[in-house]
Amino acid sequence: MNTVAPPRTSGNREESTPLKALWPSVRHFGGSLLRTYPWLAAVVVSVSGIAVVASLATDMSLPYKFLAVVALASSSFVWGFSVRSSRRRRFPPLSHLHRRQYAATWDSLTASREEAYSAAAGHKDEAEFRQSGAATVQNLLELAPVRPHDQVLEVGCGVARIGRELAPCCATWTGADISANMLTHAARRLEGLPNVRLVQLHDVELSELESGSFDVVYFTNMLIHLDEMDRWQYAQEAFRVLRPSGRIFMDIIDVESDAGWGMFAHDSVRYKHLERPPYMPRFSNASELTVYLQRAGFVGIQAHHRSPLVIVTGVKPSGE
Ligand SMILES: C[S@@+](CC[C@H](N)C(=O)[O-])C[C@H]1O[C@@H](n2cnc3c(N)ncnc32)[C@H](O)[C@@H]1O
Repeated sequence: MNTVAPPRTSGNREESTPLKALWPSVRHFGGSLLRTYPWLAAVVVSVSGIAVVASLATDMSLPYKFLAVVALASSSFVWGFSVRSSRRRRFPPLSHLHRRQYAATWDSLTASREEAYSAAAGHKDEAEFRQSGAATVQNLLELAPVRPHDQVLEVGCGVARIGRELAPCCATWTGADISANMLTHAARRLEGLPNVRLVQLHDVELSELESGSFDVVYFTNMLIHLDEMDRWQYAQEAFRVLRPSGRIFMDIIDVESDAGWGMFAHDSVRYKHLERPPYMPRFSNASELTVYLQRAGFVGIQAHHRSPLVIVTGVKPSGE
């Protein structure tokens, strides 16, 4: 759901002119008008077209003809622009929901299989989708590390993009998610795999899962969508459901990496005057995740920098 964009500054106040200062508001107003009334641009183009024909067919003055042509050209430009941007707008703004309404947010984004794939990793094609998880699977095998006898839990598993690839490498794979839609699509993708299970979560906790029942708990490509307090909540819950010596793995886009900063700066410009949709990323860094793991009781905490991600791993002490 994120695209890497080069860092851009959000504007030098000294260079700003009244017109420049007004432009974001004009763009915002125009954008909302076209979203609310998508037919408006087409109507304006048709009316200006009729005005051009009328001005040519009748004996109208030159300034009027000129004005009609300018109106036609500019309204056609706006129409084309709005059609293109509505095609590009893959995700709805969901402005009626706030960030912590996770189930409603993610169910709204994932009615169809294509939407679910897109919301999980930005790819609709099965081959590309599977390929997009390869680096994460590698990171889990290397850093968690996931071993053949392990019972593994993914929190926020989506359509099992990672689980489907990881299940053959461990004893059991459990995917937990708060979105019923995501789990329905996941169940279809996992058909035929003998060692997998899906669990629907109903809150930011793992109360559906027994204490001390997993060797590895991981969070990938999901904490970025959560409120900070909920990241902390899940760190504590992961500690509870892990066995002594169990390992935790969390990844997040690292605002301290150049690529992560690029995404942050891009969003800061894009949403300068707008409320961000509830699923948009909340970037982080190693320090934030490290403090949650320390406070939850994990030891051996390490941060692995794999730009744009930082992966933080830890171990539940063997005496717990
Ligand atoms: C971007 S998708 C990533 C899915 C999967 N981890 C992957 O990498 O393909 C984020 C997932 O987190 C889930 N999610 C969002 N908020 C959640 C929450 N509070 N608890 C559990 N899952 C949540 C969403 O339903 C969605 O499936």
